[in-house]
Amino acid sequence: MKTGLAGKRALVLGASKGLGFGIAQGLAAEGATVTIASRTLESAQAAAERIGGKARGLACDTGNLPQVDALYADAVSAMGGIDILVLNSGGPPPGLAQKIAPAQWRASFEAMFVGLVRIADLALPDMMERKFGRILSVISSGVIEPIPNLAISNAIRPALVGWGKTLASEVAGSGVTVNAIAPGRIATDRLQQLDEANAKRQGKDIDDIRATAKSRIPAGRYGTVEEFAAMAVFLASDAASFVTGSVVRVDGGQIASSL
Ligand SMILES: NC(=O)c1ccc[n+]([C@@H]2O[C@H](COP(=O)([O-])OP(=O)(O)OC[C@H]3O[C@@H](n4cnc5c(N)ncnc54)[C@H](OP(=O)(O)O)[C@@H]3O)[C@@H](O)[C@H]2O)c1
Repeated sequence: MKTGLAGKRALVLGASKGLGFGIAQGLAAEGATVTIASRTLESAQAAAERIGGKARGLACDTGNLPQVDALYADAVSAMGGIDILVLNSGGPPPGLAQKIAPAQWRASFEAMFVGLVRIADLALPDMMERKFGRILSVISSGVIEPIPNLAISNAIRPALVGWGKTLASEVAGSGVTVNAIAPGRIATDRLQQLDEANAKRQGKDIDDIRATAKSRIPAGRYGTVEEFAAMAVFLASDAASFVTGSVVRVDGGQIASSL
């Protein structure tokens, strides 16, 4: 398969580690120039150094709109443009649906939706003019099958799916695709933290929590960051030019829904 990614310019948000980092690494391995962003400049730059080549790291909290605007300007000035934009951010705190403070709802919505949509809006005009663009959102299996004790994620991520699906129809004729990737359980620091929180909440050993979680995944294990990133690399590639408005799962068969 020819990816056509050599020389393409990618901006990956939330990418100093975990899924975002894996995507940046996968795109760079195909010859793309990548800019990595995360809240701290040091961790973004350290991640860029691990990738090497022309990779660079910039600071941006997706919940801070002035920083989002500055990131767009700095990434364009560094790379000359953006062909591939990966919308990713940190996960919200776990918790039940009841008694979430209004300030927490607002902060999570800003970081997980408003900031991501803002940078896509900034990047889209150039993509459409050049007749090529790839916008990928990292969401969660919770948009299809809500995950217990992750109420904020279950509530906010569907907004990104609805936005992306609408946008995909608007820009499909301009060579810009818009897709979302839904991870099931992929081994990252975030998953480790969630397993620890579940162990504490249920008064169980973390190994028992993991064993139960894996028993619910037909593949019988957690996915790797590389397995997740491979889907992002495909969706960013020339080969995926007719895939748009889709939510693609990378979940080892976990989501119990045929649609
Ligand atoms: N791993 C899974 O199985 C899984 C499943 C479903 C959904 N997800 C979701 O997928 C996303 C990525 O997950 P992950 O497992 O890679 O998480 P992770 O290991 O915690 O990594 C999150 C990354 O995002 C950055 N980040 C956090 N908050 C940010 C913010 N406000 N603005 C910009 N960057 C921010 C972090 O760097 P800094 O700390 O330096 O900012 C880090 O690079 C999360 O939203 C997560 O909830 C993951």
